[in-house]
Amino acid sequence: MYTPEMLKSIKKVEATRASRIGVEPRRMTADEKETLLAEFHPDHIESQFTTLTIGPNKGEKVPLELAEMLQANSRIKASDVDLSKIDYDVDVLVIGGGGAGSAAAIMANEQGANVMIVTKLRHGDANTMMAEGGIQAADKPNDSPAHHYIDAMGGGHFKNIPELLERLVTLGPDAVKWLNDLGVLFDKDEDGTMVTTHGGGTSRKRMHAAKDYTGAEIMRVLRDEVINRNIPVVDFTSAIELILDEKGRAAGAVLMNMETRELLVARAKTVIIATGGAGRMHYQGFPTSNHYGATADGLVLGYRVGAPLVYAYTLQYHPTGVAFPEQIFGALVTEKVRSIGAMLVNAEGEAFMHPLETRDVSAASIIRECKARKKGVEVPGGGYGIWLDTPMIEMLHGEGTIEKRIPGMLRMYLKYNIDMRKQPILIYPTLHYQNGGIKISADGMSGVENLYVAGEAVGGIHGENRLMGNSLLDIIVFGRIAGTSAAQKAKTVENGTLTLDHIERFAKEMQDAGIVTDKVSPKLLPVYTHGSGKEKPAF
Ligand code: FUM
Repeated sequence: MYTPEMLKSIKKVEATRASRIGVEPRRMTADEKETLLAEFHPDHIESQFTTLTIGPNKGEKVPLELAEMLQANSRIKASDVDLSKIDYDVDVLVIGGGGAGSAAAIMANEQGANVMIVTKLRHGDANTMMAEGGIQAADKPNDSPAHHYIDAMGGGHFKNIPELLERLVTLGPDAVKWLNDLGVLFDKDEDGTMVTTHGGGTSRKRMHAAKDYTGAEIMRVLRDEVINRNIPVVDFTSAIELILDEKGRAAGAVLMNMETRELLVARAKTVIIATGGAGRMHYQGFPTSNHYGATADGLVLGYRVGAPLVYAYTLQYHPTGVAFPEQIFGALVTEKVRSIGAMLVNAEGEAFMHPLETRDVSAASIIRECKARKKGVEVPGGGYGIWLDTPMIEMLHGEGTIEKRIPGMLRMYLKYNIDMRKQPILIYPTLHYQNGGIKISADGMSGVENLYVAGEAVGGIHGENRLMGNSLLDIIVFGRIAGTSAAQKAKTVENGTLTLDHIERFAKEMQDAGIVTDKVSPKLLPVYTHGSGKEKPAF
């Protein structure tokens, strides 16, 4: 399967392997990291960003592709929709059927609310489903939420919003217990103790996993719980505009059937945006580990009704996306592969960095190794990769470890005749996570009354760089918070007069700012036409 050049390089990796076992490459100093990030992390390529000229974050820096969607035309005119004809009338409307939306819906139901989920693909088509390595929670005797807080703050460059991070870490143990009680099959020792491992930037082993398909296992259980509670799920239907009431409070959404394009009105006392991430925006031409529908829709919906964003300029590039074979280009190779012993090694067989630096530092270091130091391995079609020396895992922990701990990875590569137990694999950073998003308070409400947000659409919890496993945790913690808060708030809300006036107000703002564009948003689905140039990383 590997090319002759790759096989030549593998010989060099094999030649240094034994000498690398048990020898940890040194960690970078803070100064080294700062210099590296400034020179090689994609967040620092100024030409890839622009400044918003309208809306609540006017004057702030965002990626070019996001600005294009935030400052685009609505898919509808207010006159296209008859707001007197209500198709769905609920207490709590949850937009998004992933982990955060499902957790929110379960908790809203628990509070006695009439709650409905609307999702543009199927229930569970979400980044939650794609999450592999684990979920962090400080629930071991040698650990504490304070340790977890400090790790996440350091990883986030001290930009994490303190009250959000405090909620994340203090509610973490209870979130994992809740999942376990619901039936998530976490990895456990024979005596029932949860198996935990390290992730990049963790000072304690607090990563709980279900092998290397933790997100799929969590989603399986959440989806079952939604079904068991008879919570309605309207699938293949997108929210394309929020509806406000005469007081400017969120009061529902205009929905579009993805097949027929029929427009529907959902009235709600409170609304929760749980639309997930943005990998399919392919910022800077990067491939992505994200699911097909990850197109930043929630940010657009919220922004158009005046909900401020925070840190929308910062994205996470997972250090280890698949660089080869091409069929799975950009797919996630879980950080767990490194946490159980595989080293990052260049084309010469040199371990050029500690394998568990935080993600932004690791990604930048890999990019530098390929671009500046020219020590990457060329892959067909252009681009480079770095070796992830997976045979080390079984040398360290014994035969059978890969099959036991990361069976999904093993199977993914075996399909392409690469046996990661015997040969290393080629990786390169892939677009993985949006660190920024809609700003919320500690009860999950955005800057717009009665509009709540949970999951990857939220910004600020993780500062400028999230640690592994804190996303599966945040969808549960903030999904539960949003569901509970939105249901409680709904009890106090009287339905007002529905309006879509904001569409015209926003269009006028665009006009006044001289923005002329044929783009419409939310994007809903990515476009992969021949020659779009979005399938390969920009070198
Ligand atoms: O590497 C991973 O398994 C990804 C985990 C995460 O983003 O939290």
